[in-house]
Amino acid sequence: MDGINEILALKRDLNAVFLVHNYQPPEVQDLADFCGDSLELCRHAQETDADYILFCGVDFMAECAAILNPDKKVLLPDREARCPMAGMLPAEEVRKAREEHPDAAVVLYINTLAEAKAEADLVCTSANPVEMVDALKERTVLFGPDKNLAWFAQKHTRKKIVRVPDDGYCYTHHLRLLRKDVEALKAAHPNAVVLAHPECNPDVQEIADRVLGTGGMMHAAHELRAREFIVATEKDMCYRLKKAHPHKEFYPVESAVCDQMKKHTPFKIHEALSSPEPVRVERHIAKKALRPIQRMLELSE
Ligand code: 13P
Ligand code: SF4
Repeated sequence: MDGINEILALKRDLNAVFLVHNYQPPEVQDLADFCGDSLELCRHAQETDADYILFCGVDFMAECAAILNPDKKVLLPDREARCPMAGMLPAEEVRKAREEHPDAAVVLYINTLAEAKAEADLVCTSANPVEMVDALKERTVLFGPDKNLAWFAQKHTRKKIVRVPDDGYCYTHHLRLLRKDVEALKAAHPNAVVLAHPECNPDVQEIADRVLGTGGMMHAAHELRAREFIVATEKDMCYRLKKAHPHKEFYPVESAVCDQMKKHTPFKIHEALSSPEPVRVERHIAKKALRPIQRMLELSE
C-alpha cells in the first residue's frame, strides 16, 4: 500500500474529514474533502458529522473548528503551523483597548487566537469585514489585528475604526507582495483582471480591480468573463483557481508564500492520523470565544 492509500485507510478507520485551506500546497489540496476560505471552513467544521476533523490550515483555524465542535477531535498535522499575525494581538491588549474606549464595540479578524476572540463582540473573516462592522450599533469599532484589513473596512464604512494593535500585519501579504510585483504582472499581462486580498497593502488594493477574500476570488473567477487573472494573495491560491477553471490563466506573485501554511505534508498527515493528538482549547476560553464566532456565522448566513 502506498502512502496516500494508507492515509485514506486511516481516515476511513477514524471517520475523519479533511478540511483544507486554499493556501495549502497542491499535494495537500488534492487530499481535501473540502478546500476553502476561513469562513467556509468554519461552516464545514460546524456541519460535519465526522468524529475527527483533520485541519490543514493554521492554528487559529484549527482552534475555531475545535471551539465549534467541543465533542469532536481536531487534528493539525504540524502543530507549528502558527499564523504570526494571529499572535500579534494578545487578549490583554484587547482588554486594555476596551478600557480606553468604553463605548466602542470589538470586531476581531478570525486570524486571532481563542483567548483574544473570547474578548470580542464579533468575529469577521476576509469575506465579511464591512458587513460585521456595520452589524453592530456602536459608532466606534475596535478592529484588529490586521491594519490593511482595517484600512479596507474603514474605506467602506461610515463608522470609526480604531486599530488594535496599531501595526498588525500578515508578512506574506504586507512584506512579500508589493505594488511593484503587481505592476510587473500587469505590464506582462495587460488584459488580466487584478484580484487582491484585503490583507495586502493599501497601495496594492488601490491598483486592484477587485479586493476580495479567497472565497470571493473563487466566485470572481467563475463569474467574470475574463480569461486572465493576476492573483495578489498567497501563491498556491492559483493552484486552487486553476483546478476549478482549467481554461483560464492565473498569475501569482511568486514571492507571496506563507511558510506556516506549507508545514503540512502527506507524511505529517499520516503521522497525525496514526497517533492522534487533538488540538485543545481551554473550556472556559472556548465557551467565551464561541459567542462571537457563532454570531458571525448567523449574521453572514
Ligand atoms: P481567507 O479568509 O481569504 O481564507 O484568508 C485567510 C488568511 O489567512 C489570509 O491570509
Ligand atoms: Fe497568517 Fe498571513 Fe499566513 Fe494567512 S497568509 S495564515 S494571515 S501569515
